[in-house]
Amino acid sequence: MTPYGSPSPAPGPVLVTGATGTTGSRLVVRLLRAGHPVRAAGRRAAPVAGAEPVAFDWSAPATHDAALDGAAALYLVPPPGATDPADVMLPFLDRARRAGVRRAVLLSSSLVPAGGPATGQVHRALPGHFPEWAVLRPSWFMQNVTGGHPHARSIRGDGVLTTATGRGRVAFIDADDIAAVAAHALTDPVPHNTDWVLTGPQALSYDEVAALVSHVAGRPVRHRAVSGAELRARYARDLPDAFAAFLAELDLRIAGGAEDRVTDSVARVTGRPPTSFAAYLRANAALFEAG
Ligand SMILES: NC(=O)c1ccc[n+]([C@@H]2O[C@H](COP(=O)([O-])OP(=O)(O)OC[C@H]3O[C@@H](n4cnc5c(N)ncnc54)[C@H](OP(=O)(O)O)[C@@H]3O)[C@@H](O)[C@H]2O)c1
Repeated sequence: MTPYGSPSPAPGPVLVTGATGTTGSRLVVRLLRAGHPVRAAGRRAAPVAGAEPVAFDWSAPATHDAALDGAAALYLVPPPGATDPADVMLPFLDRARRAGVRRAVLLSSSLVPAGGPATGQVHRALPGHFPEWAVLRPSWFMQNVTGGHPHARSIRGDGVLTTATGRGRVAFIDADDIAAVAAHALTDPVPHNTDWVLTGPQALSYDEVAALVSHVAGRPVRHRAVSGAELRARYARDLPDAFAAFLAELDLRIAGGAEDRVTDSVARVTGRPPTSFAAYLRANAALFEAG
């Protein structure tokens, strides 16, 4: 039992946006396992087995009312790559409020405060829309080195991790710990009504991460430190320039020490400590096997 009580079923389904994504997919599994009805929203027909699928596209408002119909709570994953997600998210929040949704949990980022850029604008608006809310502000995901993230792809392809973080440290977090906090924030009887900066148990430099990955993968992986301008140009090959600039700026803030911290938020909300990077890598070692 945490200070917010033991999770209890919501009076209607939890609408999970980004249900196929890094945190959303893990959240859906956790909610279903705990017996909560889940509506899994995505652009594909049946995003997650076991949940009620609903077609949902941030850029197609015609899909929004059906997704919200009867929902008791929302998990909000912003549209990927948007520098101003408030443009599409705030009208959706207005609809949700009108539809009677009481609780919303927003996925933001540790370096983005309420009123800050990108999701910071949605964060600021959330308490005015819903009587019950929480904003999750995780540090960088451990999954960035194992999944479809550019870091994971370049580790697999070239054995290189390219950042503009220099020797700055980050307390990487397992997305499953974020999902665990999200499940509590969505279903605890006492609403959290706060933002949580979520970190893993230890701040590590990317040199240290490269060493850990090398050890588990059984082949050399090195950290290549580049300038902010070089990183921005790299990202801009695949992303809109403004978003590439935003991501490069976050790396420079890490270089300046902005992420060199750990919080006890995961333990406070879930009652257990967060997963370490070494344990996460050991558990996912198979992902580094050739082929
Ligand atoms: N990676 C990190 O280290 C990190 C750190 C802190 C915060 N964050 C934040 O975490 C969030 C998620 O990042 P992620 O990279 O892990 O992404 P993700 O959740 O794995 O993927 C994005 C999700 O959005 C869905 N989606 C894509 N376009 C959509 C659209 N137009 N309408 C509705 N849904 C759409 C995708 O589903 P379908 O394609 O199936 O529709 C997918 O489920 C981002 O806001 C990021 O800022 C990330």
